Order: sequence, then C-alpha cells, then structure tokens
Amino acid sequence: MTARTALSQTALLMELEPVVEKNLNRHLSVAKEWFPHEYVPWSEGRTFDGPLGGDAWSESDSKLPEVARTALIVNLLTEDNLPSYHHQIATLFGPDGAWGTWVGRWTAEEGRHGTAIRDYLTVTRAVDPVALERARMTHMTEGYSNNHDDEVLHTLAYVSFQELATRISHRNTGRVTGDPRCEALLAKVAADENLHMVFYRNLLGAAFELAPGQAMRAVADVLADFQMPGAGIEGFARKSVAIALAGIYDLRQHRDDVVVPVLRQWDVFNLSGLDADGEAAREEVAAQLDTLERQASRFEERRAARAARIAATS
Ligand SMILES: [Fe+2]
Ligand SMILES: [Fe+2]
Repeated sequence: MTARTALSQTALLMELEPVVEKNLNRHLSVAKEWFPHEYVPWSEGRTFDGPLGGDAWSESDSKLPEVARTALIVNLLTEDNLPSYHHQIATLFGPDGAWGTWVGRWTAEEGRHGTAIRDYLTVTRAVDPVALERARMTHMTEGYSNNHDDEVLHTLAYVSFQELATRISHRNTGRVTGDPRCEALLAKVAADENLHMVFYRNLLGAAFELAPGQAMRAVADVLADFQMPGAGIEGFARKSVAIALAGIYDLRQHRDDVVVPVLRQWDVFNLSGLDADGEAAREEVAAQLDTLERQASRFEERRAARAARIAATS
C-alpha cells in the first residue's frame, strides 16, 4: 500500500468544498420552511408576576410529567448554547464560499429551535421560568468546547453522531410530554436535526474517500470520548439518568440507533485503503462498539430490575 501524506486542515477544507456546495443545495431543496409561532398555544398564556403584576409560576401550573420537563430543559439549554457552537464551526470552517453559507444557514435553523421550545414552555407554564433563566445564564456563561475543536474531520464526525442523537432525544421527549402540540413542535425540530445529520454524514462520507485513514482516526477519537453537547449543564448526570430511565435517550439507543447506523453509512468495516493508523483506528471503533454493547446491556438489566422493584411495591 502506498503511504498517503496526511492532508492539512486547509487542504481538507478546500478538497471538501465542492461536496459542501452539493450538499448545501441538497439541503436547501429538501428543508421545509416552518414557523415556530404556529406551534405555540398563545391563548393559554398568562402574565407572570414582576413588573406586570401577574401570577407567579407555581408547580401546579405544569401539566407535563416530571421527566418530560427535565428532558425539555436539557434540550432547550443545549439549543441555547448555539453561540458557542456557532463560534466553533465558524472559526473552523471559515466565512467563505459554501462552507460559510452552510454555517449561516445551520445557525439560523438551530436558532429557531431554542425560540420555539422556550415560547412553548413559557406560554404553557410547563417549567419554572426563573429557574430556567438562571440555568441558561450559567450554561451559556460556561460555553461549549470539545477536545477536537480545531480539527475538521473530528468535528464532522462529532456532529454526525450528535445531530442524530438530538433528533432522537427531541422526538422521544415529544412522546413523553403527553401533549400532542409539544410533540408536533418537537417533531419539526427533530426533522431539522435529521437533515443536519445527513449533511454532516455525507461530508464525512466524502472524507472517507479522500483521506480514509484520517477519517477513521477522527471517528475513533470522537467515539472514544463522546459526550452529548449538554454535558456541561448543572446536574447533567442526574438528569441524563432520568432521561435514560424513561427511554428518551439511553445507551442502547446511542449504540444501536445513532452510532451503528452512521458507521454503516460510511461502511467503515469494509473500507479499503487504510494506512496503519487507519487500521488501528478501525480496531478501536470495533472495540468501542463492544464496550457500548456491554454498557447498554448492563443498563437495560438495571432498568428492568428497577421497574420490577417498583411494580412489586405498588
Ligand atoms: Fe437544534
Ligand atoms: Fe441540528
């Protein structure tokens, strides 16, 4: 096998530019325009306390199950951190050409998600608006960064998994709210996330043809320390356990519905032309899948045992 010279970050951006343009056009042709205001039941709204002298929020105002509230808060705070994500990809992908257009378009679509979910939560009094605002301040002040901020292929690999993960999380959150209006809104958000995933997945797919070893290395590194973008939210560990117990987003879904299908699209286990490090990275990916399988099975057993205990005592 001939050794390939690793492509620099700049070379990767240049080589992938035509793929960005093609997939940007594809995205624009399939994305359906939608309006967040149409999904919010405004007539249910009531003025709050404070300068306008309305009614303070109270626990009994919320009609949503506790875990649905938890998931909505995590999802919204995650969307709220958009300036951090924008900064990261705008810095990495740059303002020019198709890359720059994509960054702007993606940011605008993501901005809609936070607006829509916050409007719904505030109007329906689904969560404590004071606690929500304080959590937003803390989370956004913290900002977001990850270990591979300055690497094109690592970022593309991360967002391919992460967009699909948020799609599943939004969709399943909608289901547990028991409110068909919230479910409809989150289905719109989830559909956007799915198109984002397709865009990034296609891009990394092209990178696998261009620089297979580097792309495999990026995937292996990203899977090794994958964390949801909301991992920095205060109390995230406790919240994510509740979310997993409710089947909104758990390790089984992470492995079987996010990681495996995306890897399959890239055909990582049949790919040829890998250099030595690419082969090593592929082995790491396989090992990571095994680890996830064990963790997911263990979690499912614990969840089933817990459900049995609860059933026995009630
Ligand atoms: Fe989003
Ligand atoms: Fe997205």
